[in-house]
Amino acid sequence: SARTPMVAGNWKMNFDHLEATAFVQRFAKNLRSRHFDFSRCEVALFPSFTSLRSVQVLVESEKLRIKYGAQTVSVTTQGAFTGDVSADMIAHLGCSYVIVGHSERRKYHPEDDANIVDQVRAVLAAGMQPILCVGESLEERRKGIELDFAVGQVHDVTRDLSDEEAAKLIIAYEPVWAIGTGMVATPQSAQDAAQAFREHLRATFNEHVAQAVRVLYGGSVSSKNAVELITEPDVDGFLIGGAALDVDELTRVCTLT
Ligand code: G3H
Repeated sequence: SARTPMVAGNWKMNFDHLEATAFVQRFAKNLRSRHFDFSRCEVALFPSFTSLRSVQVLVESEKLRIKYGAQTVSVTTQGAFTGDVSADMIAHLGCSYVIVGHSERRKYHPEDDANIVDQVRAVLAAGMQPILCVGESLEERRKGIELDFAVGQVHDVTRDLSDEEAAKLIIAYEPVWAIGTGMVATPQSAQDAAQAFREHLRATFNEHVAQAVRVLYGGSVSSKNAVELITEPDVDGFLIGGAALDVDELTRVCTLT
């Protein structure tokens, strides 16, 4: 397809700023020694807020082509919101992306659809791209309603976006039961979800949006399953947790994508 594949490494709450920059240095060295072609596959890391500035300084001083972003964002622009970080603050650190609505944020923080809609808007307004996470739990999968559920999540968050805004989205399909469990979705079910999102985008927006939006799969991705997943026509890359904490394993996934 015309979409550039993407490997996104979500570090979650791991690595302080020293560990983060040491990782980026080794990762860049690994990719360089494999003559990794960044125009063929985009690579992005998602450190903690506390590491973003250090990662920026390193990426800029060494002119690395690794991109990076934040794991969540405030829905407000500034003011008396203790502990929150605004989209502009994140954008001014050179971030390209923000992960929005990860299932861990939905679970441990009061992030509901209304809040996630506002995060998506804040990210777009600051000139970055949101990686919108959706995916069913085991309960919905057992009932056989996983596609309706995940498409419904996409619908609820994107319904009021303009065509131009929608075209900038990246969707990460992350079945909750697959996250950190070693139980990866089958390539067919990742494809089914990605295709269903694209059909929904076509119906809600237009063909251009449906073709432009990248759909990543997330949930126990590793170098052992990346190839069969990326072979599916509507799967455009990965959002990786556990495997993104091991620099050699993440390098392998990048070269296989
Ligand atoms: O954001 C990443 C996902 O939650 C996947 O995590 O690769 O450890 O299953 P995992």
